[in-house]
Amino acid sequence: MTLKFSRRHLAKLAGLSALGLAMPAGAAEKKGKPAPERFAPAPFPKGFVWGTATSSYQIEGATAEDGRGPSIWDTFSHTAGKIADHSNGDRANEHYHRYQEDVALIRSLGVKAYRFSIAWPRVFPEGTGTPNPKGLDFYNRLIDELLANGIEPYATLYHWDLPQALQDRVGGWLSSDTSKAFGDYAGHVAARISDRVKNIFTINEAGRFLEFGYGLGIDAPGLKLPAGELNQARHNVVLGHGLAVQAIRAVARKGTRVGPAENIATCVPAFATAENIRATELATREMNAGLLGVMLEGKYTDGFLEYAGSNAPKFTAEELKIIGSKNDFVGLNIYAPQFYIAASDRKPGWSLLPFPASFPHMNSEWLRFGPEVIYWAPKIAAKIWNIDTIYISENGTSSEDRLRDDGRIYDLDRISFLRNYLVQLQRATSEGVPVMGYFLWSLMDNFEWIYGYEKRFGLYHVDFQTQARTPKLSAAFYRDVVARNAIGP
Ligand code: NOJ
Repeated sequence: MTLKFSRRHLAKLAGLSALGLAMPAGAAEKKGKPAPERFAPAPFPKGFVWGTATSSYQIEGATAEDGRGPSIWDTFSHTAGKIADHSNGDRANEHYHRYQEDVALIRSLGVKAYRFSIAWPRVFPEGTGTPNPKGLDFYNRLIDELLANGIEPYATLYHWDLPQALQDRVGGWLSSDTSKAFGDYAGHVAARISDRVKNIFTINEAGRFLEFGYGLGIDAPGLKLPAGELNQARHNVVLGHGLAVQAIRAVARKGTRVGPAENIATCVPAFATAENIRATELATREMNAGLLGVMLEGKYTDGFLEYAGSNAPKFTAEELKIIGSKNDFVGLNIYAPQFYIAASDRKPGWSLLPFPASFPHMNSEWLRFGPEVIYWAPKIAAKIWNIDTIYISENGTSSEDRLRDDGRIYDLDRISFLRNYLVQLQRATSEGVPVMGYFLWSLMDNFEWIYGYEKRFGLYHVDFQTQARTPKLSAAFYRDVVARNAIGP
């Protein structure tokens, strides 16, 4: 028998009920009707924190308002040829003025946590020296609005928008003066927000902004440093992290929790034999020794120092102690499997397997589709560094996200991505891997750095002409997961 659907049926399916927007999850059961689904959902732990994430330069706009100083990303995005669609963050999502509307969007997802970043050049337009009180005023308004809506603020102190003044004066992260300035800025902010903000991320994705911004020259500040200087910049960044942890501990309210948000080099066993898993643990430690490793171990591994040779950073024992200051949690930004690993008889005991050209990827070409990465990366990190609290501080994907004639966005590839990654994350938590929360990147489409506005990562579509925000189908999907604290097969 063939089932025939009329145009009206299809139109209805594509309407509110198909989007899950007509009735909140659970409403059918409450009315006494049986729930339409009968699968066994895979639950996340009680109290699991569901959230979304954004960052200052990517959404705020208002780059010249209320005393904000320029950042290296203002300079970089205004340099011809750097951004794919020739755009910049001058206006972005106008979140600086629309933050109340945006908090309402977060609330309607049902999430209880929001990770945003504070723009250093709003608080210290010159990087150091006299603070600009209007800068923190904005974040105070945002924090109050979040709390009034039952949403826990998670603040990130550095999401790449370094004050341009620091780049000009001391060479940015090439100088440990920037590490010190970051520590001072962190203390200044923590003293003023920790009455309401309990969780502070120090530095976001040191791995990315150092590699791309100081090594390859394709992110701000656009430098192509030789290996020795690049390692020194890495060292100054982890030193900045350690100084920030100490400054926050010194001034923040008791109970304030702090940690990094790092995009570790993600290693996944090619397939899960005991030998391959062990090899993946060794590889994860070595591949991350210069950043997250030293933050968690308070020392560089022998392998790292040997490999760096004369390009190793200059450091003191005192600095290592600061860098290794204890964190309360570790944030991991997990997107793609970066390396598949197999055990090897040869030193160092593991090998990186080459990727076939046919390996699947999402709408962003770098974003390989490998859901198992979100199972292995936190599991292995927790084991090798003995971490007891992990947050997935970012995960998500871009999608074509075309507005259809009916005004909707059917981002089925994003839903498939999220479903598969979340199933693997649930697999990890069900085995006791200490992942306590998940922040979906991103709340809404925004300035995706060198791709400008071409790559859309949001749960909400943004029309950058009108600033209209429209929920994509994935927003309804995520809301359903959050409401159940579980995901079906
Ligand atoms: C990680 C970065 O922290 C964020 O700024 C970026 O937009 C996402 N990855 C997606 O590329």
